[in-house]
Amino acid sequence: MDRWQTIIEPFRIHAVEPIRLTTEAERERALAVAGYNLFNIHADDVLIDLLTDSGTGAMSRDQWAAIQRGDESYAGSPSWFAFRDAVQELFPFTHIIPTHQGRAAEKILYSVVGGPGKVIPNNTHFDTTRANVEFTGAEAVDLVIPEGREPATIHPFKGNVDIAALERLLTERGADVPIVVVTITNNSGGGQPVSLANLHAVREVCDRFGKPLFLDACRFAENAWFIKTREPGQADRSVKEIVREVASLADGMTMSAKKDGLANIGGWLACNDDALAEQCRNLLILTEGFPTYGGLAGRDLEAIAQGLAEVIDEDYLRYRIRSTAYLGDALLAAGIPCVQPFGGHAVYLDARALLPHIPPLEYPGQALAVELYRAGGIRGCEIGTVMFGRHPDGSEAPAAMDLVRLAIPRRTYTQSHVDYVIEVARDLATRSQDLRGYRIVKEPAALRHFTARFDPLR
Ligand SMILES: Cc1ncc(COP(=O)(O)O)c(C=O)c1O
Repeated sequence: MDRWQTIIEPFRIHAVEPIRLTTEAERERALAVAGYNLFNIHADDVLIDLLTDSGTGAMSRDQWAAIQRGDESYAGSPSWFAFRDAVQELFPFTHIIPTHQGRAAEKILYSVVGGPGKVIPNNTHFDTTRANVEFTGAEAVDLVIPEGREPATIHPFKGNVDIAALERLLTERGADVPIVVVTITNNSGGGQPVSLANLHAVREVCDRFGKPLFLDACRFAENAWFIKTREPGQADRSVKEIVREVASLADGMTMSAKKDGLANIGGWLACNDDALAEQCRNLLILTEGFPTYGGLAGRDLEAIAQGLAEVIDEDYLRYRIRSTAYLGDALLAAGIPCVQPFGGHAVYLDARALLPHIPPLEYPGQALAVELYRAGGIRGCEIGTVMFGRHPDGSEAPAAMDLVRLAIPRRTYTQSHVDYVIEVARDLATRSQDLRGYRIVKEPAALRHFTARFDPLR
C-alpha cells in the first residue's frame, strides 16, 4: 500500500459539477463590487472554494440513493430509525436528538445547562459554541495545552486539554461548572487532534469532581485517524473501535453532520441523562421540530446515516489527512509559513509572518486572502484582525495571529486542483513584498468579517 506515494482519491467521479474559469480582470471587477470582502463574492466567480469544509463536501452515490428512501412522515419515520441506529452504532448514547445543524444542538444544550454564574470549560470553544454559551450569561473558558496556542510548535495532539488547568478550575469553581466539553478536532486551534490518553485523563478528572463530559464531535473520524496514526498502541485498532472508545468516555455530545457526517446539512445532540434529554426535547419541539426529525427532512436523516458508515472508511481517512498535509507541505516548501502540524480539515497560512511589511491593523490576512482570489480564483478565509480585532467597547487591536484558512471540502477537489492552489500560492510567495494592506470603509457593530467593505491601500 505505502509503496506508491501518489495520493489518489479513493473514488471516481460519477456526477460532475462545472466550475467556471474567470480572467484576472473579471476577478478584479468582482472584488471591487464585493468591497474586497470574499464573503460578498458570487460563488460562481470562485474557481476553488476553500472558504469552509462545513456542508460543502460531495455526497456519495449511496448517499444520493439513500435520499430516495427518505420518508417524510412527521412522526416515527423509518428514516429517523435509520439515522438513530447509525448514530448509536458509533456513539451509543441513550438519547439521540436530531437538529438542523451543530449550533442548534448547542443552543438547546447550553440553554438547559448554562445561565448566569455558570462556567463551561472546553479545549477551545468554536465561535458558535462560545456564542451559545455566552448568550445564556455563562462564561466560556478555553483550556487547551500551551502548545495549542503556538503556531510553529510541533506536537502530535495540540488539541489536548490542559489537565492541570481543568483541575484548578474545578477546584476553585466546581459548583459553577455544569459540564466539561472537549472539541474533537479542535477547530479554532487549527483542526488539531485530542489524544485518547488526554480524553481518559479528562474523564478521570470529571469523575473525581462528579461532572458530565460532553464532546463537540464535528470531526470525530479525523480525530480518530490521528489517534490511530500518532498515538502509541493504536495503530492496529479500527477507526470504529477508537470512535466507540472515545464515545464511551463521554456522557453526551453535540454534532454538526456537515463535517464528518459527510452531509450538506444536519446535526444532533446526544446524552445518557433522562432528565436532561427531556428538557432538551421540550426545547427541540419549540425551535426545531418533533423529536424524530428535529430540523431535518427524512431524506437528510438518510444521507447522514449513510455518511456515518462511509466516514470511518480507512482508505477515505488516509486520503483525507494525507491530502491536507500534501497541500501544507508544498506551501511550506514554497516559503509560506503555516500553522504546524497541519490539522485534519484545513491548512492555516501565517499571513503576518509572510507579509511583515503589512501591520496587523492593515490586515495582512485580508491582503493574502484577496490576492489568492485575484491571482487564481481561490477563496480562503481571513482568521485574524478583521475577524477578531474589533472589541465590544469599539476599540480595535491586533488579533493574536493573522491567518488565512484554506479549508478542504470533503471528497470535492482532486489532487490537480490542489496542485493548482500550490502553483498560485508559490507564485504569490515570490512577490509577497508587493502586496499592500487594506483599510475598512464600512463595518457593522459585530461579526464585521462577514459584511465589512474594504479599500486597498496604495
Ligand atoms: C467545532 C465546531 N463546533 C460547532 C460547529 C457548528 O456547527 P454548524 O455550522 O453545523 O452549526 C462547527 C462548525 O463549523 C465546528 O467546527
